[in-house]
Amino acid sequence: MLLEYHHFIMIATPYLVAILAVAAFTTAAEDTLDWWQTTVFYQIYPRSFKDSDGDGVGDLKGITSKMEHLKDAGIGAAWLSPIFKSPMVDFGYDIADFKAIEPLFGTIDDFKELKEKMTNLGIKLILDFVPNHSSNLSEWFQNSVKKIDPYTDYYVWVDGKPNADDPSKMDPPNNWLSNFGGSAWEWNEERGQFYLHQFAAGQPDLNYRNPVLVEEMKNVLRYWLDIGVDGFRVDAVPYLFEREDLPDEPKSGDPNAKPNEEKYLLHIYTQNQPETFDMISQFRAVVDEYKARDGHTRVMMVEAYANLTETMKYYGTPEKPGAHFPFNFQFISYLNNASTGQDVRDYVLQWEQNKPSWAWSNWVVGNHDNHRVASRFGPQLTDGINMLIQLLPGSAVTYNGEEIGMEDTFISWEQSKDPIALNAGPDRYTLFTRDPERTPFQWDDSTSAGFSQSETTWLPVNSNYKTLNLENEREATESHYKVYQKLVKLRNLNAIQTGALDIQAAGSNVVILSRYLSSEPSVIVAVNMGSDSETVDVTSLKGVSETLEVYTVSIESDLNEGDKVDPKAVRLGPKDGVVLLTA
Ligand code: NOJ
Ligand code: MG
Repeated sequence: MLLEYHHFIMIATPYLVAILAVAAFTTAAEDTLDWWQTTVFYQIYPRSFKDSDGDGVGDLKGITSKMEHLKDAGIGAAWLSPIFKSPMVDFGYDIADFKAIEPLFGTIDDFKELKEKMTNLGIKLILDFVPNHSSNLSEWFQNSVKKIDPYTDYYVWVDGKPNADDPSKMDPPNNWLSNFGGSAWEWNEERGQFYLHQFAAGQPDLNYRNPVLVEEMKNVLRYWLDIGVDGFRVDAVPYLFEREDLPDEPKSGDPNAKPNEEKYLLHIYTQNQPETFDMISQFRAVVDEYKARDGHTRVMMVEAYANLTETMKYYGTPEKPGAHFPFNFQFISYLNNASTGQDVRDYVLQWEQNKPSWAWSNWVVGNHDNHRVASRFGPQLTDGINMLIQLLPGSAVTYNGEEIGMEDTFISWEQSKDPIALNAGPDRYTLFTRDPERTPFQWDDSTSAGFSQSETTWLPVNSNYKTLNLENEREATESHYKVYQKLVKLRNLNAIQTGALDIQAAGSNVVILSRYLSSEPSVIVAVNMGSDSETVDVTSLKGVSETLEVYTVSIESDLNEGDKVDPKAVRLGPKDGVVLLTA
């Protein structure tokens, strides 16, 4: 299967593509691609990255002190999970003041210092914008409870239904469920109404049917853009609007979901409503106001766990653009250690074929809401998966720690912090908890893995830190980190930035792909998803030459960098990946 990967020219025959691609791209890649298209975005989870003051929680000064690591890894942009004033019910995703820095993380001066350091290192700064909800402890919500304008209708307030048995009690207006379990409605005694919360009760949903609120939120974007940020990751966008007439949602029929769990219902009235896509375009127009002034693109990437049809709508249209891209969660939602090479090929193509032809791709493999790559795919596949994420066409997104192959940490019920885990209770929390992927970054083998001077940290450090840490991996001759660094470097190649993609399965277990661009060197990737050794023929791929040379390879492989390889017989051990270059 052959896919053209440049969005300007849509041509059917490979011959023409070759001719035009040379003319258009070999020398002009820098001119035609924008910074956000070629870069790797690195997600920093501030509570767990680096603690500078020994309170066991990460902070801004800590992040600033570790910026050289991003530079060393080749990262061009960092996205910080929320750093705003927050009671931390959902660890920063419950914001009490959208324009203030959370004191636990530092001050606005610390933020500006971080920004300056990043500017000096040439790393862009992306903030997390959380439009769907605020904290219930925000002034906005407190004033809304009291019906003080303009806040009266900042939230989704609805009258209750008198309880059939005891009419002095109120039932919620419908059956909607919170993402974190239980009813999505919370009774407020003082106002005498229910408010909607699609996440924790401490995260009341904002009311996007109120134009005053909409303008307020756009001004939040402008506030940080004025300070100089390079864009936003936008949180939980499917939830912005709900059907105004509040119909009950139908049951999903999922046999594994309990009646109070989010998956029990089909969310056809509370997610991905038509107004939501329009609001994303409105947010995009705000960031584009700034680009119009100085030509510098402020990027908008949105988080939407949705089916592909809905997800692709978040790109908007060329006339009315939405996000620069909605995150591509194919490797998170559908692929894991049981997937075959054929599955990988299928899910990659599913994304590429459903994406609007003019739109830019991206590949995400981890974040603070999903188990670690090494735990989902098995540690041996760490390198192979990073090869795919970095070398498939489009932007790449790395969650902090994935560059060194960090693993999930077991968190007992007593140690649990995540509100979803706490809502689920001791018997079911392991099904939902996000604590295992949020433990401190493992810098070295000193106290608390070099994350904090304190021996106790907000979540425990993984006990494997003595060996699994960045310092070790930097010193080792072979390591996940070294492979990662090489992959990021390879993204500078024209074949990776603008080349076409040919992706196939070799047998059922191995996925093979090439990225190629006329007379330029091509990049060939082979990843063995299976547990047996395999020898594969990659000559069916476009762009393969008579001999290939190993550029980088999984740390457990028998092959070494620089080895010459016969394209008819590429040897892969179990779960091995290899990146090959044509001469
Ligand atoms: C998605 C965020 O990534 C997650 O961590 C958070 O709990 C929800 N949105 C609610 O903000
Ligand atoms: Mg909402």
